[in-house]
Parts: sequence; structure tokens; C-alpha cells
Amino acid sequence: MNFTQSKPVGILGLGTAVPDKILTNQDLEEMVDTNDEWIVTRTGIRERRVLSPGEKPIDIVIPAARKAIEESGLKPSEINGLIFCTYTPDYIMPASACLLQGELGLGRDGLCYDLNAACTGFVYGMQVGWATIRSGLARNILLVGADFNSMVTDYTDRSTCILFGDGAGAVVLGEVDEGSGILGNSAGVDGQSWKHLMLSAGGCAAPITAENLESRDRYIQMNGREVFKFAVRAFNEAFEKAAADAGIEPSEVDLLIPHQANIRIIQSAMDRYGFNADRVVINIEKYGNTSAGSIPLALETARQEGKLRKGMTCALVAFGGGLTHGATILRW
Ligand code: ACO
Repeated sequence: MNFTQSKPVGILGLGTAVPDKILTNQDLEEMVDTNDEWIVTRTGIRERRVLSPGEKPIDIVIPAARKAIEESGLKPSEINGLIFCTYTPDYIMPASACLLQGELGLGRDGLCYDLNAACTGFVYGMQVGWATIRSGLARNILLVGADFNSMVTDYTDRSTCILFGDGAGAVVLGEVDEGSGILGNSAGVDGQSWKHLMLSAGGCAAPITAENLESRDRYIQMNGREVFKFAVRAFNEAFEKAAADAGIEPSEVDLLIPHQANIRIIQSAMDRYGFNADRVVINIEKYGNTSAGSIPLALETARQEGKLRKGMTCALVAFGGGLTHGATILRW
């Protein structure tokens, strides 16, 4: 897609935040029939962050967003668009984006909404934000990726409760110098497979009842093997299509920033594309799968580890409920 009037769009500021409370594999051993060795070998996860009683998603998101805005050097009023990627909002209505806009005092003219693409949310949001700025509908956009999986995780189900954690990240998108910013995108969905990963109760098709509370249908239900197979396939498709859109080969990417769902999914991509550990960001051992928070948290890890340097070509690749997938190629 080409918009003729605009400059490149990229990241002007980044901020992240996670709850203080840590849930370790040892804690989970006390809750379900599992063990640290199984979890580490099958997933790569050692611990994850979870909200404490009384803590709300927005409490974690606000400091992440403030950091991103501060780093961008913009005044809150200069940001006239807000896309909040999440499937675990504070309320079904209004959108978490509206709560955040009010709290931060962002510009009042512009789009302000939640985007639900589960774990692919942040990558979808990068693309929508990019297109919105290039179309002239907004000048600067605050893009949030945040999920609080602990609120919808069944801590009696060992096949899911070991995987998920809570976390938030935010970036400010705006015009950047020629030669940097977003270079290519891909997005996709397999909507016939939506039942493999879902929350079946709590929406309007099945409002909460005593029966579905008892049957634990308000929690994440996942066909892990099917999602795993999809994830490996979708990763490759998303990455290769986005690289082609950017006019490069996957091998020309300097740094791979994958959704942190399972170390074996990341390893499979590393093997396929010949990426060694220096060219991949992995923080799954600390945070588990934070859904839409995963990619911005990985960006921050890359920065802290000194892996993310100016001028590098990065690939953000994600997949998740829907089943959705997407990738963005970005020059930092
Ligand atoms: N501890 C010990 N044993 C366990 C555990 C556990 N926590 N969980 C499952 N097992 C057992 C199973 O019961 C099974 O036992 P059995 O052989 O006696 O039946 C055995 O371990 C193997 O189970 P599998 O399901 O085959 O294990 P697998 O190697 O596939 O790993 C996992 C399961 C980790 C869930 C994997 O399938 C996976 O990561 N899938 C992708 C999940 C994912 O990425 N989801 C998120 C997508 S993004 C989003 O939008 C939320």
C-alpha cells in the first residue's frame, strides 16, 4: 500500500511495565500436577507476572504509556490517536483506550479504540497505526499492547496455566527520518479455526451464568497441539510475506523479535532461517506469554540487552487467537 503524501512512520518512544507479583514454576507445582522441568523443557518459561488482588489492568498500562510519551518528546496533546490492543480490557464498554486517553490527557480529536487480535494485537496495531498516520487521519498515535491473562486463566488447568502472564507495552508512532521506520507488513487470519483458542463464556453469545462459572468456561480454553502447529506455519508465512513486502529476504533481517509463546516455536524459526541467539530476542523465561504485551516487552528486552541498535532491520512476528498472524519489518 502506498500513500503519496507522507513520510516514513516509525517508533518515537517505547515504554513497558509489568505487575510486581511473580508466579514461578514452583508456585504452580503447588497448584496443579506439574513440575519445573516439564514447563521449562516444553515451553522455556520459568516465571510470569500476575496482577495482585485489587490491581487493575489500566494501573499497569498507565506508567508504560507515560514512559513511551516521555521518550517521544511529544506533549500528550500532540498525540491525536490511541489504539489499545488487548483482549483483556478493564471493561467490555467503554474501551480501555478511552480510560487511558482521559488519564493521560491526550489530544481529544482523533480515533480512540480497542483492537482485539489476541497475541497478534500489537502487530496488527502497528499496521493500523502506520496506515492511519500515512492517510493523514492522525499525526502521532499512542499504540498500546497489553494483556492480563491471569484474569482469564484457569489455575486448575495445567495445560494452560503454565503458559500465560500479564504485561504491558506502549509505543508512540509518528513520522521518522527517510530510510527508517516501518518498511513492510503482512497480516492474516484463519477464521475457521477460532475454536482452538477461546473464552467461551462472558461475551454476549454466552453471558456468565452459575453453570458456566462452575464449568470454568469463562477461562482460556486451548487446543495446544493445534495452536502449536498453526503457530509454526503462521510464523513462517507472516515473516516471509512481510519481508517480501519490504523488498528484502528474511536472511537480511538483523534482529528477530518474535511473540513469546513457546521457546520451541521460536527455536523452529531460528532453525529454519539460520538465526543464532544474537539475532533473536527471547524473554519468555521471565514473562511467559503476555499476548499483546509480548512484542513491546521483547523490544524493551532487546534494548536493555544492547541487541537493538539504530539502523538495524527488525522483524516483529506474532500469531494468536482468531487464529490471527502478522509481521512488521521495521528499521530502528
Ligand atoms: N505439566 C506436566 N504435564 C503436562 C502439563 C504440565 N503443565 N501439561 C500437559 N501435560 C501432559 C499432557 O497431559 C500430556 O500427557 P499424556 O501424554 O499422558 O496425555 C503430555 O504432557 C504431553 O502433552 P502435549 O499437549 O502433547 O504437550 P506439548 O508438547 O504439545 O506441549 C503446550 C503443550 C506447551 C501447551 C504446547 O502445545 C504449546 O505451547 N502450544 C501452543 C500454545 C500457544 O502458543 N498458545 C498461545 C497462542 S497465542 C494467544 O493468542 C493466546
